[in-house]
Amino acid sequence: MNQEEAKGRIERLRKEIEEHNHRYYILNDPVVSDFEYDLLINELQVLEKKFPELSSPSSPTLKVGSDITKEFLQYEHRYPMLSLGNTYNFDELRDFDARLRRAVNGPVEYVCELKFDGASISITYVDGVMSTALTRGDGTRGDDVSANVRTISAIPTAIRNHDIPEEFTARGEILMPRAVFHRLNEEREKEGLNPFANPRNAAAGTLKTLDPAVVASRNLDCIFYFLLGENLPHKTHYGNLRILSGWGFKTDGNTELCRSIGEVIEYIDKWDKLREELPFDTDGVVIKVNSLDQQAEAGYTAKSPRWAIAYKYKAEQARTRLLSVSFQVGRTGNVTPVANLDPVQLAGTTVKRASLHNADQIYLLDLHVNDMVYVEKGGEIIPKIVGVDSAARDESGKRIRFIESCPECGTMLVRNEGEANHYCPNYLHCPPQLKGRIEHFISRKAMDIDGLGEETVDLLFSNGLIRNVADLYDLKPEQLVPLDRMGEKTASRIISSIKGSVSIPYHRVVFALGIRHVGETVAKTLAAEFPSLNQLMSADIETLTTVNEIGPKIASSIVSYFTDPENIIIISRLRSAGIKMTGEPKKTGSAGILSGKIVVVSGVFTRHSRDEYKEIIEKHGGRNSSSISGSTSFILAGDNMGPSKRAKAEELGIKIMGEEEFLAMTGEL
Ligand code: IVH
Repeated sequence: MNQEEAKGRIERLRKEIEEHNHRYYILNDPVVSDFEYDLLINELQVLEKKFPELSSPSSPTLKVGSDITKEFLQYEHRYPMLSLGNTYNFDELRDFDARLRRAVNGPVEYVCELKFDGASISITYVDGVMSTALTRGDGTRGDDVSANVRTISAIPTAIRNHDIPEEFTARGEILMPRAVFHRLNEEREKEGLNPFANPRNAAAGTLKTLDPAVVASRNLDCIFYFLLGENLPHKTHYGNLRILSGWGFKTDGNTELCRSIGEVIEYIDKWDKLREELPFDTDGVVIKVNSLDQQAEAGYTAKSPRWAIAYKYKAEQARTRLLSVSFQVGRTGNVTPVANLDPVQLAGTTVKRASLHNADQIYLLDLHVNDMVYVEKGGEIIPKIVGVDSAARDESGKRIRFIESCPECGTMLVRNEGEANHYCPNYLHCPPQLKGRIEHFISRKAMDIDGLGEETVDLLFSNGLIRNVADLYDLKPEQLVPLDRMGEKTASRIISSIKGSVSIPYHRVVFALGIRHVGETVAKTLAAEFPSLNQLMSADIETLTTVNEIGPKIASSIVSYFTDPENIIIISRLRSAGIKMTGEPKKTGSAGILSGKIVVVSGVFTRHSRDEYKEIIEKHGGRNSSSISGSTSFILAGDNMGPSKRAKAEELGIKIMGEEEFLAMTGEL
């Protein structure tokens, strides 16, 4: 390769790697496996070494991928948060060991730890109390996610009764246990939300949500693997880990001391299979020099320590031919591409289909019909395509394009700005959407109509007996009996369980309607705030967003559901069938000084956290809202309130109140 060619390749590689960094760290939606990503980095490193005049300080080979987002304040890390060099083979591990022994001129003892696959966190404690929790960010500065981290019960907020340094930093990995991940995805799919691709993305995405209550509900865990500070209690990493554990931090009990690289390799071999039994995803082993003096001697590169390395397990892969891509339409109209493959054996099963997340993934992989592709089974059950062998491309294969119209009803698909998925907007007539809504309505957590399942819904639908949920209540036994595999007994059981569903409580009816983004919890909240469906139907976006947990996205979905004339007819038919459309009003305390007031809390506070202020507002009968509008009563403002918010408040003539005045008014001073 000459310099001109190298220049072109280097530029393309840098661009592609930056794109993957963005997908991994910001969108939490990567489209290639770690292995594929590491291959790109490796190729770039080799080229930059060969053509040093083409190297650049901003190359992704010298930078840590950044997770910084504008929604959080950023702070500088006291100690930079570096990444780790990695390898997939034992020869490179032996080279690592030889390099180190040369550098320190003697034997080296290693600590072997599992490499947990989550989101890294750096927490500083001052006088034994958690002060800030930062994400890795760009390695130099990280996002301040302290409010979220404080809700994770596995992480201590204060350390008592110990002889601890005045200030220290504990680093670890925030994780979502696999079981929690599966439960969360089931709920998300029911609510019409995109499922998370794997537990890592779910943990990283949760850590960056803006509502600490959501973080608290997600059962995150955290395992600590690093203690930093000025006068550390021990001269070894292993010793410091034990100290951390003694202070109440969760560390991994499977960590081991190894006296040679041979023992390290044994540890790696042992955990290759055993790790499947752990409750968390792991993707390798981290090998660290135990002695802190030897660590200092070995030193650092721009991006990572020379005294540590990650051995990564390669997920089992298979290579096969891509035959075609089909497109499936879900209950909420989401369109998902699915790859049809030449059947191939992978990790004990025959794989015929693989998921492709969305249009972006198809274009990033530049998929063509007949391509030889690599499929991988990661933490997820459904295998995914992680790479293409473009050298083996058969020129006759056409490039795969995402469809423009719905494969079920022909309507032009829509992709909202900022969203990754295409969906079919033909809410009223697209068959899988119609059937999907009925299936959701009858499901156990909604109207719980026994005896009716997916197959029966399909049967009733294809025989033209039902098009929407209200049709269920008009069904007669004599219409069912002639159908396939039905019989009188089954028919009457179905009818009586449909009739029985009229006693289902109101909050479950709200959930059963299948309003986009209204899951079980949101439905409960709505039912408590609006004790009759009529009240909920007449609520506008402003009123809805005053309810805790209801943001503009959910609010506008509710309003658009209730402005659809077809839905109004369905609701009125459900009402005539006797379905419960009223419930118990929310029990509120005494009227309170803020009763009827709508308050927007904005900025950074010193006396209480933002969430504590929100609680105080509710305690005194007020409601919190996230956006300023004509109905806002006043703004409780701390430091750094955004200039656009301030301008809007001034334009609308809304009072801006400081925390002292607010505390005095509510008697909380
Ligand atoms: S040590 C300088 N130990 O892997 C040392 N990291 O690719 C930095 N990770 O950002 C980290 N398990 O998020 C360390 N036992 C472990 C780990 C671990 C997972 C993550 C961590 C880090 C990334 C490096």
